[in-house]
Amino acid sequence: MSKGTRDRKNIYVSPEEMARQQRFIDEIKELNYRKEVKTGKKKLYCLNTFGCQMNEHDSEKLAGMLAEMGYAETDNVNESDLVIYNTCCVRENAELKVYGHLGMLKPLKNQKPDLVIAVCGCMMQQPEVVEHIKKTYSHVDLIFGTHNLYKFPELLYSAMDSQTTVVDVWDCDGQIAENVAIERKDGVKAWVTVMYGCNNFCTYCIVPYVRGRERSRSMDDILEEVRMLGRQGFKEITLLGQNVNSYGKDIGDGTSFAELIREVNKIPGIERIRFTTSHPKDLSDDLIYAMRDCEKVCEHLHLPFQAGSTRILKLMNRKYTKEDYINLVAKIKENIPDIALTTDIIVGFPGETEEDFSDTLDILEKIRFDNAYTFLYSKRTGTPAAKMEDQVPEEVKKERFQRLLETQNRISKEINDTFLGKVVEVLVEGVSKTNDKIFTGRTRGNKVVNFEADASLIGKLVNVRINTVKTWSLEGSIVR
Ligand code: SAH
Ligand code: SF4
Ligand code: F3S
Repeated sequence: MSKGTRDRKNIYVSPEEMARQQRFIDEIKELNYRKEVKTGKKKLYCLNTFGCQMNEHDSEKLAGMLAEMGYAETDNVNESDLVIYNTCCVRENAELKVYGHLGMLKPLKNQKPDLVIAVCGCMMQQPEVVEHIKKTYSHVDLIFGTHNLYKFPELLYSAMDSQTTVVDVWDCDGQIAENVAIERKDGVKAWVTVMYGCNNFCTYCIVPYVRGRERSRSMDDILEEVRMLGRQGFKEITLLGQNVNSYGKDIGDGTSFAELIREVNKIPGIERIRFTTSHPKDLSDDLIYAMRDCEKVCEHLHLPFQAGSTRILKLMNRKYTKEDYINLVAKIKENIPDIALTTDIIVGFPGETEEDFSDTLDILEKIRFDNAYTFLYSKRTGTPAAKMEDQVPEEVKKERFQRLLETQNRISKEINDTFLGKVVEVLVEGVSKTNDKIFTGRTRGNKVVNFEADASLIGKLVNVRINTVKTWSLEGSIVR
């Protein structure tokens, strides 16, 4: 392949550096092994992840490195030797949860001085957060950021040996680290990062400040990873990035997301392809055609519109109008008629009037999304919107939020009702948490379906006739 290759050397962590990290992995493995022989117990880690799929996937990398170091996972903090919080700062409540957890760990650390407490992820990319943790939660042993995740083995090694908090957070954009071990939780569906960072600077959003500028992985590396997943028996992959539609722009040789999708579509074993997130301003005709043409690409698109009012969209720096969005969806539906659409919406952006909000409700009614993730605007220090006047009072935000939820729930249920009696293709993902006879999977349109089955069907595509409809899920029975 001549395009999208890995010739941008300085964008990658060097093989020598990766080999150095491997030596720390081996050192810790040796220490853990010796401890295990002495105590008869494997060392345990408890990993808590907040935030989006990007963070969930980073946690799969931490889990991969930890498995190589000889740790086993537990969800019981009290019995663990290492506790990690992989944090999110997109909204204030995500941060407050982390502080709550850290506070609660203090007595445990007093009881078990050898316990290592680590915090990482997006929140740590903010210097004031690091200062606050150092001051208020001095029982934390290790703080690191998003850009140096690959350096976790070295940092953990130092933290195990240090009396003070080890802090390593980089404010420059991280390099891409290939070949980090990944332990995927699921055996059917896998996330694959295609790009890191974001260049969009939506005025409410902290992500570009904590994840840095856009950096695309080489197409060769991505395709190689997907081929391996296909060989390992994974059936569905989700290509990940903050703004996947701008994949390849930084490579500068014409590599595009549409082209990547077409290549991924050829890979044996993989039955379904999804991707997230798409920014409406970057969703090209070429990508719509690729979605239409590639049989493995699911008829589902997550396309956040954030706000209905063109005035608010401008203040948000989203670079499209209400009409642009509606026209874009019309074009998508023309090419992929049975597409399921989901979206993200923010309520109560500074200056949002009742009239602006009615544009948001209007988009919901016009487009009729299958599902919407709705958020109360949360002020993020350092973003332009935090300094805007006319912050909307909490009670106004909450009242609008309630109306938004009611509208969307009604629409979701109405759309789900149209599935009654229909037969849908479902990829069987696993057993339900509450009943071992009930299995769960998703349609190509990403709807959750519950049905009776047995474990031999996990990872298989089955046809299910829908006989019960709920707001968030469908129920049915397998048609043989
Ligand atoms: N890159 C993705 C997702 C980013 S974060 C995208 O652009 O769609 C996920 C969602 O969180 C965003 O889509 C937005 O709806 C919401 N969000 C981001 N910043 C927020 C803030 N300050 N307050 C409330 N919601 C926010
Ligand atoms: Fe945040 Fe906007 Fe980037 Fe999404 S596109 S991560 S909302 S700045
Ligand atoms: Fe949160 Fe970071 Fe994702 S701020 S939403 S975990 S990129």
